[in-house]
Amino acid sequence: MKDKLLEIKEKVIDRIDEIDALEECEDIRVKVLGKKGDLTQLLRGMGKLSKEERPVIGKLANEVREEIENKLTSKKEQIIEIQKKLREEEEKIDVTVNRNKLEIGHRHPLNHTMEELENLFLTMGFSVVEGPEVETVENNFDLLNSPQDHPSRDLTDTFYITDDILLRTHTSPMQIRTMKTKKPPIRIVSTGRTFRFDDVDDTHSPMFHQIEGLVVDENITMANLIDTINTFIHEFFGDDIETRFRPHHFPFTEPSVEVDVTCFNCGGKGCEECHNTGWSMELLGAGLVHPNVLRNCGIDPEKYSGFAFGMGVDRITMVKHGIDNIRLLYDNDKRFLKQF
Ligand code: FA5
Repeated sequence: MKDKLLEIKEKVIDRIDEIDALEECEDIRVKVLGKKGDLTQLLRGMGKLSKEERPVIGKLANEVREEIENKLTSKKEQIIEIQKKLREEEEKIDVTVNRNKLEIGHRHPLNHTMEELENLFLTMGFSVVEGPEVETVENNFDLLNSPQDHPSRDLTDTFYITDDILLRTHTSPMQIRTMKTKKPPIRIVSTGRTFRFDDVDDTHSPMFHQIEGLVVDENITMANLIDTINTFIHEFFGDDIETRFRPHHFPFTEPSVEVDVTCFNCGGKGCEECHNTGWSMELLGAGLVHPNVLRNCGIDPEKYSGFAFGMGVDRITMVKHGIDNIRLLYDNDKRFLKQF
């Protein structure tokens, strides 16, 4: 029995040396020292021993049990220590490490232009108002004197949400919202997003930005409109730039004009960029507020008159920075955006 005991001890101690998981320690404890364990089973045979042998073997058995228990305890402590070190290593945070520099962004060129435009018009005595991108058909078309059969009302031109609600096709409904709530004198600008079913090309995007301007007072004439636009253009683009007012038609203004500025590429001489016209792409529409529109908003056209304009912010940004493709403003390519 003594040999058996020493054999068990040797095997178990060797095995404990090899293990590296806490569960294995517990396994060994159960298999050797547990109720049905090897050592316990062996000691059950002690009854067969002689009187003299019994205390000797008993003592040895206790020593073996104690030695195995001690070995298991120190192994467990060792494993726990190793695991702790590994975890510390894994979770270590070096606060002194020099990480990649945080990239600080800046405003998008379109937002920058809108802010610049608003500030410029503020200095010219305008106030800034804001309105919703989701509009009523009534504000977007009906009260702006746009007839039922006007092409811009067509499903193929406009994003309808219901029959009566749409994504505004221009910022002109802000004229209606303002005139319905304010009495003249009125002098406001309003910037924001507008939406149309336009195919994308170099100068068109289905979502683009406009700035609307509206002035209503007594004795407002085309002269006031032309002077305001020219002052704005020269302040914004510089004195060298020339404007061209072309007759046009809008249902909500009468008379109506479209305005171009001299080509930034050639200064008006004519080049590939401006198709040899000397003029940049069309920048804005404008005109004197139609008497029907004033009437629709409860303003007496016999007493008051007004002018309004709507400019493409995207195109103004393009002309200002010499950008030849509107897509660049929406691609979110950092190489492009970083230049501004
Ligand atoms: C209008 O939207 C009128 N509401 C402007 C107006 C306001 C006229 C007040 C009279 C009085 P128009 O559809 O021409 O007009 O658009 C005005 C400007 O928006 C254009 O000159 C152009 O600069 C810009 N624009 C129009 N469609 C697009 C598009 N798909 N992508 C980018 N810019 C556009």
